Amino acid sequence: MASRSLNSNQKLFAFSLILLSLPLIILVIFFGPKSNNVVDTLKLETDEPQVFTYPRWFDLIQEEIQEEIKGKKKIKVGLVNFNDEEIEYNMHGLVVSTVHVRFNNVSKARKWEDFFPEWIDEDHKSSLPPTCPEIPMPRLEDYRDLHVVVARVPCEGWTGKAGFRDVFRLQVNLVVANLLVGSGWVTPNVKRAVYAVFVGGCGPMPEIFRCDDLLRKVGDHWVYMPELRRLKQKVLMPLGSCQIAPPHGKTGKKDWRYYSTDHKRPNAFNPREAYVTDAYVCGAIALAQSIIQSNSNRDLLLLHDEKISPKSLTGLKTAGWKIRQIGRIRNPFAKKNSFNESNYSKLRIWLLTWYDKVVFIDADVLVFRNLDRLFVYPQLSAASNDRTLFNSGIMVIEPSLCMFEDLKVKSFRVDSHNGGDQGFLNEVFTWWHRLPTKVNFLKCFEGKESYRRDKIPDDVYAIHYLGLKPWMCYRDYDCNWDMKEGQVFASDKAHEKWWQFYDAMPEKLQQYCWLTEHMKWRINKGREIARNLSLPDEHWKNAVTDPRQYNLVQ
Ligand SMILES: *[C@@H]1O[C@H](CO)[C@@H](O)[C@H](O)[C@H]1NC(C)=O
Ligand SMILES: *[C@@H]1O[C@H](CO)[C@@H](O)[C@H](O)[C@H]1NC(C)=O
Ligand SMILES: *[C@@H]1O[C@H](CO)[C@@H](O)[C@H](O)[C@H]1NC(C)=O
Ligand SMILES: *[C@@H]1O[C@H](CO)[C@@H](O)[C@H](O)[C@H]1NC(C)=O
Repeated sequence: MASRSLNSNQKLFAFSLILLSLPLIILVIFFGPKSNNVVDTLKLETDEPQVFTYPRWFDLIQEEIQEEIKGKKKIKVGLVNFNDEEIEYNMHGLVVSTVHVRFNNVSKARKWEDFFPEWIDEDHKSSLPPTCPEIPMPRLEDYRDLHVVVARVPCEGWTGKAGFRDVFRLQVNLVVANLLVGSGWVTPNVKRAVYAVFVGGCGPMPEIFRCDDLLRKVGDHWVYMPELRRLKQKVLMPLGSCQIAPPHGKTGKKDWRYYSTDHKRPNAFNPREAYVTDAYVCGAIALAQSIIQSNSNRDLLLLHDEKISPKSLTGLKTAGWKIRQIGRIRNPFAKKNSFNESNYSKLRIWLLTWYDKVVFIDADVLVFRNLDRLFVYPQLSAASNDRTLFNSGIMVIEPSLCMFEDLKVKSFRVDSHNGGDQGFLNEVFTWWHRLPTKVNFLKCFEGKESYRRDKIPDDVYAIHYLGLKPWMCYRDYDCNWDMKEGQVFASDKAHEKWWQFYDAMPEKLQQYCWLTEHMKWRINKGREIARNLSLPDEHWKNAVTDPRQYNLVQ
């Protein structure tokens, strides 16, 4: 967590303040009014002698923003979700005035799913573009001169053990974000430092207020000085994942892309951006080649653990990956030695802080069109999976040391519904930005989606090979057909597309996709089961011509 310690001047100032006010404190303690919502009570010299009770946030502001208020006659504080009266404090000639920020509460009928629907009309089959329900905001023009926003965050129902999906909490966070941008972002070249104090055990939403901008946390008070560029981008994005923001979507406010980096042009080459993957050797080799063929010039970085062979590393490097060894991270809830025990290793992408942004891609993805424009999207952007959740196979994240620490701490409290990183990350990043389906086309066709298995759109950006991987089958057909429960993942069309790509790869890279004795045994076993069951798709009848069946490796 970022925090700042007081320098010696500040200590001196604080100390003299205490000395000055000591007699008054004594006065207050003995004769002052008994108040209940009060943390600190101080009486300061004012024009009209009067006793004030200072809320905790006031002390924190005063300590944190001394530099900022030096030489000012007046600072203005916006109060969000407080019922206290508006007061004016006079402190050694500095007037601190509070103003209530008025806005209508979001309707209680609104559910989280209204903002994060499972499906939206991406292809604009209906004439109206998808929209998000409204979240009322204050009249921002009435609050353009705030120095500090103090907000009480609603934390009722928050346990810290699961994602907190509360619409009113989202509203309070967005109100604060909009106020800060409205007051701080004067013009692109003129910005004023603005601060936020959140009061509440659950704190602000980390999806909107980055831990990197946390100056200090004292009890349930959190003081932030947000980086305005990133915050401005966030407030211009759609409210939830009920729309796709441009450049991939046709809806959305203004051109939020210009706030993605300090660069003038969105999408310009930036050496501090990279594609990152892990695991599967053959898959990762094909993935690297496919990204390179899409004319991307971003860095390619592969994270691996100590179990990988030197030969595999050679292949991965030849394919285009820079490689880096990492230690694995356990899922604290997984059983010892279970296959999903170290499924949290992916969290290490947050440690790659020499990059500003990372597009993580699972190694079972193949890219068909350039994805570089994803780098303009903020953390966390991803395509939809099911319900209100995103698929973590392709996601835009922003490396950050404090975020990594935060994720590690949370991994001990928050269980993952599927034992993998996806379930866990969805509980941490409940507010995410939607990328189109065709950016991360899931090879999964349930129920009424079945018709799609042979209708893969021509303009697909990437296919995510769920289920058994193409290189784990014979090239003749998708072996997900051989298992009843696997058939939702079967698509001969997608399978064929992978093998077409393989055919165009250099031979020295193809060899990493050879079959082993064990893989062949498993494929044949699957075929036999399908034959015994006489599965009606009859793929088990197909003659196998794949030459890899004769060139097994150990
Ligand atoms: C909005 O909701 C909060 C918390 O439930 C409540 O304290 C406040 O009075 C409500 N405001 C309005 C205008 O209804
Ligand atoms: C994986 O880990 C989780 C704990 O997070 C557990 O509930 C799950 O049953 C484990 N196994 C599988 C096969 O996912
Ligand atoms: C966990 O990791 C294993 C091995 O890489 C993988 O096969 C499995 O699908 C992962 N499980 C989840 C739930 O992500
Ligand atoms: C398929 O059926 C044959 C004949 O009944 C049997 O011998 C064989 O074990 C079955 N194979 C599998 C994998 O169930």
